[in-house]
Amino acid sequence: MIGKLNHIAIAVPDLISASEIYKNILGASVSDPVPMPDHGVTTVFVELPNTKIELLEPLGDDSPIQNYLLKNPKGGMHHICYEVDDIYASRDKLVKDGATILGSGEPTIGAHDKPVLFLHPKDFCGTLIEIEQK
Ligand code: CO
Repeated sequence: MIGKLNHIAIAVPDLISASEIYKNILGASVSDPVPMPDHGVTTVFVELPNTKIELLEPLGDDSPIQNYLLKNPKGGMHHICYEVDDIYASRDKLVKDGATILGSGEPTIGAHDKPVLFLHPKDFCGTLIEIEQK
């Protein structure tokens, strides 16, 4: 069902210094910050030859990554995003197989203007998974 790795997201306490680490020390191509108020994060995209890294900083008072950063104050890997051909068919199969879909269970529009869903880490080896419509 899952296809390409679309991105790995890393939660960070300070987006500017994280961007500088990726740009200046790791030598990667890094975008300008993109605020995403609907998702409670500001995002920077690191473009790699075979995938992307998203650096996420909390935006607003009830950011979904705030608790993660309280537990991981230096930041850390937050989720992995896999592409799927059909997000509704994938969702229906996952629900049938007993997976827990976060939120309302309906796809929302993610960072790349495509429908996404998040799957609870308890069902997937302790990793928060995002699936994105290809
Ligand atoms: Co993501």
